[in-house]
Amino acid sequence: MDILKAVKERRSIRDFQKKKIPGELVDKLAEALIWAPSAGNLQARKFYFIKAERIRKMIAAAALNQNFIAEAPLVIVGCTDSRISYKYGERGIHLYSIQDVALSIMGMMLVAHENGLGSTWVGAFREEEIFRIFDMPKYLRPVAIVPVGYPSKIPHPPARISKKDAVEVIE
Ligand SMILES: Cc1cc2nc3c(=O)[nH]c(=O)nc-3n(C[C@H](O)[C@H](O)[C@H](O)COP(=O)(O)O)c2cc1C
Repeated sequence: MDILKAVKERRSIRDFQKKKIPGELVDKLAEALIWAPSAGNLQARKFYFIKAERIRKMIAAAALNQNFIAEAPLVIVGCTDSRISYKYGERGIHLYSIQDVALSIMGMMLVAHENGLGSTWVGAFREEEIFRIFDMPKYLRPVAIVPVGYPSKIPHPPARISKKDAVEVIE
């Protein structure tokens, strides 16, 4: 697949079919997550893969009742791990590790798209509720919730600002 085409075609998907994701494809998504770059290759990140509907519903409630999350057959929660990221000090904990998780998820979203799956980065959620749902240790910090599934509706591409406005070339 042409990568720029995939980058442009990928949409945030908020309507999912009931269809389950085959195990080999779930494994491919995990592979995409772990092969992303990371600061010093520390890989200060952890991902929860949630298939259980009961927990998906709890996550949707924690995400300010964004109920489409619970409709996806797979929900991924991406976390930073400060037990590892502290090695680069404050910058490691509060910047690099978040970037590491973001890069993992972006790559995974493209692999999902290539394989006919849709996903959405969900950033609006109550962290404390996510901690409670997973009984998550304090060294982890959930930074993104990503529902993944086969799309039932693909939205029109939201507009982008022009390349001219986004990029300043300095020669
Ligand atoms: C940091 C971040 C937080 C986001 N949070 C949410 C969210 O809480 N709920 C949601 O439905 N979409 C969320 N999105 C998805 C954006 O709304 C979406 O990427 C944007 O509208 C562009 O649409 P596109 O992804 O289809 O190109 C988030 C995206 C990012 C990068």
